[in-house]
Amino acid sequence: MNLIVTSSVEEFNSRAAQFVLRELFKNPRLVLGIATGNTTIGIHRELARQSITLAADWSQVQSFNLDEFLGPSPADPKSCHWRTYDQLLPLPGFRRENIHLPSSDPAMAEQTLWEYPAAIREAGGIDLQLLGIGTNGHIGMNEPSTPWESDMFIVQLSSHTIADKAEFWGGSANVPQGGITMGMRLVMQGKKQLLLAKGADKAQAIRDTLFGKISPKVPASALQMHPDLTVLLDCEAASLLPLD
Ligand code: GLP
Repeated sequence: MNLIVTSSVEEFNSRAAQFVLRELFKNPRLVLGIATGNTTIGIHRELARQSITLAADWSQVQSFNLDEFLGPSPADPKSCHWRTYDQLLPLPGFRRENIHLPSSDPAMAEQTLWEYPAAIREAGGIDLQLLGIGTNGHIGMNEPSTPWESDMFIVQLSSHTIADKAEFWGGSANVPQGGITMGMRLVMQGKKQLLLAKGADKAQAIRDTLFGKISPKVPASALQMHPDLTVLLDCEAASLLPLD
């Protein structure tokens, strides 16, 4: 594991963007796994800024989001669809048709369970998977105690996650109850993993993820078994790590 602890949000966003751009310059046909959330907003913005400065070309990149809520329309600014298009389309050359997300339509969910992993495989698999983490150690919508054997599944959000998302959705009653997510088996197939966390509320989850027992009780702890994991943190998220 490669651990990077940054001392400011600016440095956090900048190091993350540099990491992604290094992979893009090595491979212009990069297949990128995307996590929606507060953690990645500033990173995507910085990625656009650095991409313009360095004349990076995103025209051959394909992206696949980890998850989506079931119910909200892709035109809803709170949906992962809307937020992803909003954040990725400013990357120079990124083509809308190369941005992939699981369908938010409950009627399409069963079909998405096999179509989406097949599309990832057809693209050659995910080269670099960006991951945020929930305060309970969730990855995507893999809530604690979810078995690790699925590629993709339909999920009922935990009350913990609904409470975490309540402010963003304008109250817990407005948070969608369920979603569709890549399972840990598919996540772990990403060739390179970049786990990102900032803020004191992530500190315990990061400690459990990196130094706790490997167990579905902490979904992100599966990453301890990944051969190519980089963890990028701010000081607060790193504050409970047993480091010298
Ligand atoms: C959410 C998403 C994840 C995201 C994580 C952290 O529930 N399903 O994909 O990475 O939780 O979110 P945030 O970055 O807003 O803290």
